[in-house]
Amino acid sequence: MQRTLNAISLCISLLLMTTSSGAESVTKFVTKEEKIREQMVTISRELGVTCTACHNVQNFASDEKKSFKVSREHLKITQMLKDNGFDGKKGPEATCYMCHRGKLTPEYKEPASNKAH
Ligand code: HEC
Ligand code: HEC
Repeated sequence: MQRTLNAISLCISLLLMTTSSGAESVTKFVTKEEKIREQMVTISRELGVTCTACHNVQNFASDEKKSFKVSREHLKITQMLKDNGFDGKKGPEATCYMCHRGKLTPEYKEPASNKAH
């Protein structure tokens, strides 16, 4: 009888453990998804584009679009800038907007007229 009770209580505690850890990972998953979504809305605005500029919306993980691959590099560059002083604490924080100014392809060459003097 005691053994059966022990077995039952073991089952119950295992059950509780799996449900509570399950709930925790669901919360983490949602939070991570929310963060990605927020970041994606931000970078879209900063480049003046919609999701389809970089994504095949049937498969968001796909890197078939060139702009997706470039963005992955530029996300790293932006992070690198944040890690090297552009962290928003005393001055600007690095963002896509810093260079892109609401355009997918920013103007990055100094115009020839500037170089006249
Ligand atoms: C300027 C390009 C760009 C735009 C615009 C963009 N994304 Fe992304 N997105 C990326 C890149 C690059 C990654 C991969 C990030 C990484 O690897 O860290 C990504 C990752 C994601 C992921 C995770 C995919 C996975 O499972 O690995 C989702 C979901 C997503 N984007 C949704 C969106 C939505 C929704 C929009 C529109 C609001 C959007 N993205 C706009 C470039 C973009
Ligand atoms: C330090 C400046 C700088 C930052 C910060 C920056 N970019 Fe760029 N980006 C450029 C320049 C310059 C170009 C144009 C030259 C090129 O295509 O490499 C460009 C081009 C691109 C392109 C290709 C556009 C095209 O014509 O196909 C994408 C996509 C892009 N950037 C995404 C991003 C995203 C997303 C971020 C923020 C996470 C970002 N960039 C941050 C400078 C920057």
